[in-house]
Amino acid sequence: MPVSVMPTSSGDGVTSSPTAVSAVGLRKSYGGTTVLDGVDLRIPSGSVFALLGPNGAGKTTTVKILSTLITADGGRARVAGHDLATSPAGVRAAIGVTGQFSAVDGLITGEENMLLMADLHHLPRREGRRVTAELLERFDLTAAARKPAQSYSGGMVRRLDIAMTLVGGPRIIFLDEPTTGLDPRSRRAMWQIIRELVTDGVTVLLTTQYLEEADRLADRIAVLNNGRIVGEGTAEELKRLVPGGHVRLRFSGPAAYRDAADALRDATRDDEALVLTVPSGGSQRELRSVLDRLDSAGIEADELTVHTPDLDEVFLALTGRPEEAVR
Ligand SMILES: Nc1ncnc2c1ncn2[C@@H]1O[C@H](COP(=O)(O)OP(=O)(O)O)[C@@H](O)[C@H]1O
Ligand SMILES: [Mg+2]
Repeated sequence: MPVSVMPTSSGDGVTSSPTAVSAVGLRKSYGGTTVLDGVDLRIPSGSVFALLGPNGAGKTTTVKILSTLITADGGRARVAGHDLATSPAGVRAAIGVTGQFSAVDGLITGEENMLLMADLHHLPRREGRRVTAELLERFDLTAAARKPAQSYSGGMVRRLDIAMTLVGGPRIIFLDEPTTGLDPRSRRAMWQIIRELVTDGVTVLLTTQYLEEADRLADRIAVLNNGRIVGEGTAEELKRLVPGGHVRLRFSGPAAYRDAADALRDATRDDEALVLTVPSGGSQRELRSVLDRLDSAGIEADELTVHTPDLDEVFLALTGRPEEAVR
């Protein structure tokens, strides 16, 4: 059963930011196989939204539908205020898509790839050159600009791919698995790029198989499994679905330990190790409440650790099985 942690409809008066992408009941089948089984999404403008799921979950299919590359068998969606069914050209004009597989032509240089995009967007030649130079600089590709793209590293190709996506100045960007296959350093560089896009006010829908990536980048996460959204919320909200979060406090002396146990009556005691364990979802507020109670009793812990469930555990809780495709 889908778990909606927070209301996802925009009519509740709680969410005030305009909606960049909304989808209701998206369905898609190939032959007799259902690939999307009623997908609902709402992405506020200016936010990062992660569609998280294993291989074959339907992530690319969702991105292809929302970017008008394929049509859904059922459901409705609006992107940048345009209805997918009645105004696909309006959708295409507002978005940029970086596919799971690169759009970079390896036989020509990075700069030529960029200029080609500028031509596709009908930019005047001078403007095309200006935008190209600016984006190549921004993505640290100026030195390699005149080299054939097939000589680029994986990280450079991804950066060029995103730079090409930005030529038309899209307000909404779909990034399909932008870091899959990248080494850790290139992955971090890509995360930084995505954060900067959002600072510029761009809305990002990214798909990922990496729980950590969704956790670090996304304002909201939808977990997709077998063509269905099985959970949706902030990383913190999703983590709260999983029991087991706690704050662990260790004391060096029995007196402080006893006083603390009196102050924190909900704690589990380990009298031998002088350790108290307090259940907690891991939020700053909950942590502060624990510390405040210790403070009022005039006690200080010698060691404090916070255990927050990670998204692997969330996936297990939502789908009832481990997410083995992740590693
Ligand atoms: N054109 C197609 N024809 C038949 N099956 C497809 C096609 N495209 C995708 N599928 C199937 O749909 C399912 C979801 O694919 P996809 O959206 O690519 O998942 P993801 O991107 O999450 O890995 C997979 O089982 C895949 O084999
Ligand atoms: Mg895919």
